[in-house]
Amino acid sequence: MDTATFNDIGAVIEADRAHVWHHLSQHKQYESIDPRVIVEGKGLRVWDATGRETLDAVSGGVWTVNVGYGRESIANAVRDQLLKMNYFAGSAGSIPGAIYAEKLTEKMPGMTRVYYSNSGSEANEKAYKMVRQIAHTVHGGKKWKILYRERDYHGTTIAALASGGQEERRAMYGPFPEGFIPVPHCLEYRSQWGEVADYGLRAANAIEEVILREGPDSVGAIILEPVTAGGGVITPPEGYWPRVQEICKKYGLLLIIDEVVCGVGRTGAWFGYQQYDIQPDIVTMAKGVASGYAAISCTVTTEAVFEMFKSNPDDPMSYFRDISTFGGCTAGPAAALENMRIIEDEGLLANTTAMGERLMANLNTLAEKHAVIGQVRGKGLFVGAELVSDRGTRDPLAEKSVAAVVGGAMKRGVQIGMTNRSVPGFNNTLCLSPALMVTADQIDQMSTAIDEALTEVCG
Ligand SMILES: Cc1ncc(COP(=O)(O)O)c(C=O)c1O
Repeated sequence: MDTATFNDIGAVIEADRAHVWHHLSQHKQYESIDPRVIVEGKGLRVWDATGRETLDAVSGGVWTVNVGYGRESIANAVRDQLLKMNYFAGSAGSIPGAIYAEKLTEKMPGMTRVYYSNSGSEANEKAYKMVRQIAHTVHGGKKWKILYRERDYHGTTIAALASGGQEERRAMYGPFPEGFIPVPHCLEYRSQWGEVADYGLRAANAIEEVILREGPDSVGAIILEPVTAGGGVITPPEGYWPRVQEICKKYGLLLIIDEVVCGVGRTGAWFGYQQYDIQPDIVTMAKGVASGYAAISCTVTTEAVFEMFKSNPDDPMSYFRDISTFGGCTAGPAAALENMRIIEDEGLLANTTAMGERLMANLNTLAEKHAVIGQVRGKGLFVGAELVSDRGTRDPLAEKSVAAVVGGAMKRGVQIGMTNRSVPGFNNTLCLSPALMVTADQIDQMSTAIDEALTEVCG
């Protein structure tokens, strides 16, 4: 069957219903309704198997397709590369792998080395393995614990879940490996310490308290999202990041920044951490690196981290003994190179900043009209609106009602997202992350759909 010209959509839906196990989905519903099958995309628009067109405000559902759908130049770059050389194990180099690593690190002052794999979870696993190996080779078996923050997410594999601060993702998948320790979240709207004058400092100091409790000798690293994504679109409070950086230096922690969502333009800078003047030791990224045109993730390190794995060439166990078979696929860096060129040539960082401001302003205007909007948060085209049933008490709006708002926007032709299976009782934040070349008209179409959906669901 030639899938590109295969037009018996009914047969496709039946094959899907009978054989595909969808991600994050309860399948009982598909006994009475058809599973959704997406067949085409162009720019920010997608069409499903019924021919229905939707404006995608979530870049492929999970903040991924940063440069939009139907990019012929990326398809051509991947095709040309596949015909020239599709694969060789990552113990050898490749042309696109070398060139992309050079261009990427040019955008990340202080970072020099790129380790390729294929998903955000895997990129984080590599970072954890680096920390664990450094604990053995440099710290005599100490500093093996890795801190993570409540509400952050770092992936779906067991170790990544062990470092996940979203209970509904972790539940029932334990027991987890040892040595992943939570620190408090930094969402001031849900302050754990009541009203404090300097919440950012308080939340950062909470990390120090955990380090002191665990013993500084035992803690080797902390992993943090610059802006928490699926945990509620949490932008860091004033004063948070400088203090975090200070604490890392004071106790000799490697700072791992998870840029899987924030990376490659999403916040209006190449990387989210650059918005907050952070100097990381390890940076992981995936989704927007090639906008979903190929599977690729990167674990990027400083030369100092890299050096620790080559200082003892006589010891056959001291280098980084890790492999990712598909980390050697050349389609990833070939697509990533063209993805980066598009962002540069089309001025998409500036557009992200401008359109992000418009989206925030629109949602803040909606908040004047809809008391159900408790708080609007975001950076660039990475925006969330937390819904509450009562502004005074800040009680979260019931998840079913939040889902009804998402459904209401969908009825109006706009796909938005919401936090889901994340923090118990707090799956109440609407999420927007459109492609970086979104226009003002499209931003306004998104906010109008949300406005009407809120009126329909909440009055
Ligand atoms: C911040 C963050 N890190 C890591 C991941 C895991 O990425 P992947 O699904 O590619 O394994 C995700 C996925 O949503 C994410 O949001």
